[in-house]
Amino acid sequence: MALLDRAIVRLLPAVPRDVVRRLAAPYIAGPSLEDAVRVVRRLNAEGKLATIDVLGEEVRSVEAARELARAYHQVLARIERERLDASVSVKLTGLGLELGYDLCREQLEQVVEDARVRGIFVRIDMESSAFTDATLRLYRELRAAGRENLGVVLQARLRRTLADAAGLDNVRLCKGIYLEPREIAYDDEEEVRESFRATLRALLDQGSYVAVATHDEALIADALAQVRERGLSPEAYEFQMLLGVRSARGEELVRAGHRLRVYVPFGTEWYAYSVRRLQENPRIAGHVAGDVLRRLARR
Ligand code: FDA
Repeated sequence: MALLDRAIVRLLPAVPRDVVRRLAAPYIAGPSLEDAVRVVRRLNAEGKLATIDVLGEEVRSVEAARELARAYHQVLARIERERLDASVSVKLTGLGLELGYDLCREQLEQVVEDARVRGIFVRIDMESSAFTDATLRLYRELRAAGRENLGVVLQARLRRTLADAAGLDNVRLCKGIYLEPREIAYDDEEEVRESFRATLRALLDQGSYVAVATHDEALIADALAQVRERGLSPEAYEFQMLLGVRSARGEELVRAGHRLRVYVPFGTEWYAYSVRRLQENPRIAGHVAGDVLRRLARR
């Protein structure tokens, strides 16, 4: 990343919220469930699957956690009613993990049960390393209790990930977005890639269903080679991308016969998600500088 980009990334929290909102608009369906439904309908018409995320994380009250869970039940009902080809993605801190494991477990179970009845899949997003143990524990407990419409996420950035992969059977594999200390995470991009490739190999070797969630061409090429080597049918894996990122590459994958699922966030709690996406955008410095200059010129 260029020096200017790194500086802007550090300064992002100081950028006015309305600038962040405007720049992050392509990554978010909009504030309401209607917006998410509209985007998912379009994606489905293009032959793409979706996973809907209700924005909201690190909630501070039981009421806020229950409200987010209610929003998920509404999403599940809409997916069923509109016959959308979509799953949901949930963040455990949104369901109250920091307020109590049992509270979070109870809410997740209700969401997963509601989804099961409607034939919908639930993926638990992976948050920072402070929550990795609890997330994997909750996932394993619910799977052991027979909840099969549930999957989890592994982050190649974490040194522990290859070991964590053992025995998991429905995994989204990504690099990992959270900044983690060197002792527990690779900070060299090539090491992260190597961990991604090795974990993908291990998961496919043990017969896991893998969602390959990356926009990194080197990793997409490696995944394509690995599934080809094994002669896997397109139902045995999928690619995943974020809304607003490399959509033309996504279309190519669909045209080549692969399943592609797009992560579709919506809601009013857009700030934390937006900052993370902007920090990854290779052209963020130019976008932010351009926006600020335009605003100055208008004054
Ligand atoms: P990388 O960041 O190297 O990006 C490769 C290329 O993609 C870039 O060079 C650029 O061209 C393009 N690109 C990437 N991000 C962009 C952006 N924001 N704007 C414009 N271009 C961009 N993480 C996590 O910790 N927990 C999770 O649960 C999830 N869930 C998840 C779901 C899905 C469907 C995806 C695709 C990703 C996640 N992630 C995640 C995020 C993931 O960990 C990672 O931070 C991002 O995918 C970026 O990493 P890449 O592998 O795409 O490579």
